[in-house]
Amino acid sequence: MLKGKKIHQAQMDSRKLRWFFCLLGLSCGSFWFFYNWTEFCVFCENSQGLLFPTETFRRIEGNFSQLPDIDCHKNPPFLVLLVASSQQHLDARMAIRQTWGKERTVAGKRLVTFFLLGRAVDPSQQADIAAEGQKYRDIIQKNFTDTYYNLTLKTMMGIEWVHRFCYQASFVMKTDIDVFVNVFYLTELLLRKEKTTGFFTGFLKLHEYPIRRRWSKWYVSREEYPGKTYPPFCSGTGYVLSSDVASQIYNVSESVAFIKLEDVFIGLCLEKLKIRLEELHSEQTFFPERIRFSVSRFKKIVMCHEVEPSEQLSFWNHLVTESHGEVL
Ligand SMILES: *[C@@H]1O[C@H](CO)[C@@H](O)[C@H](O)[C@H]1NC(C)=O
Ligand SMILES: *[C@@H]1O[C@H](CO)[C@@H](O)[C@H](O)[C@H]1NC(C)=O
Ligand SMILES: *[C@@H]1O[C@H](CO)[C@@H](O)[C@H](O)[C@H]1NC(C)=O
Ligand SMILES: *[C@@H]1O[C@H](CO)[C@@H](O)[C@H](O)[C@H]1NC(C)=O
Repeated sequence: MLKGKKIHQAQMDSRKLRWFFCLLGLSCGSFWFFYNWTEFCVFCENSQGLLFPTETFRRIEGNFSQLPDIDCHKNPPFLVLLVASSQQHLDARMAIRQTWGKERTVAGKRLVTFFLLGRAVDPSQQADIAAEGQKYRDIIQKNFTDTYYNLTLKTMMGIEWVHRFCYQASFVMKTDIDVFVNVFYLTELLLRKEKTTGFFTGFLKLHEYPIRRRWSKWYVSREEYPGKTYPPFCSGTGYVLSSDVASQIYNVSESVAFIKLEDVFIGLCLEKLKIRLEELHSEQTFFPERIRFSVSRFKKIVMCHEVEPSEQLSFWNHLVTESHGEVL
């Protein structure tokens, strides 16, 4: 009798347990589904603007708040390097000014480097940036808030500057503040390539697709980008274009859907312009990641990423002194 009751009790318990897990599974499942429903939304695919109308890019109106000291009309540079930077990167800007970013002539070609900045959130920092620009005359700035999500605005400000003030330059490189650039090898390869118009190169990304996992750093919602794949683009850590392409990008940009990933946005512009990405060299020379330093290796790269300001100085000094003038 007692034994029967116990068995009955155990059966009830296990039935309750089964119900419990069943409900738990169901609620977790539906939570997961509603959290990720855009993953399964097949009818939003390939229909730019059906469910999620995407807004086109709008450039920042108005004058530049800072312009660099250069007259491209009188003395056009061969290559302009534009470095995306923000207020807190003073030490990195100083390191670049002393190393690869210093104005110089390589193989008879003039190279200049300028920094792209938005308006600092803090007014006192904004005053510091203004003073820094007055001192070094190498800052390009417009009135937009300098945040990660405004990087497309920052890049497009650089493109606008080239289009309006320096279209006489042959080439433009857009790069980041934590990147090392071997300006000697880059110049050599550009001269060797002999392609002066319709040219775009860098670390090619030909088959990337949007990351729809919300917790990812690179999460892009379907509202922002409804397509399944990205067009071909070059890693934003460093890409090089002929200056006519800058004008064409400027021209087409306001009819291209806005996306906060600046390198993808440039890819969308190039797709619209039907400009194909090209390799600069048959071997890899653009490194969107960190690579180990050695003089022999760095002599044969155009750029690498994740470089500290102190490393800019040491890499540069080693490269220049230990390559016995070969790089020059
Ligand atoms: C922009 O600059 C031009 C020429 O320097 C000046 O005439 C104009 O008033 C400026 N516009 C604004 C909104 O500051
Ligand atoms: C910059 O933009 C902010 C916000 O839109 C505005 O309040 C400010 O007056 C602008 N500053 C200049 C110098 O145009
Ligand atoms: C820049 O980013 C901030 C915050 O991320 C945003 O509020 C602002 O509208 C953006 N655009 C401009 C033009 O400042
Ligand atoms: C800009 O676009 C217009 C119209 O689409 C075109 O006529 C013009 O040639 C373009 N300019 C450049 C520099 O591509």
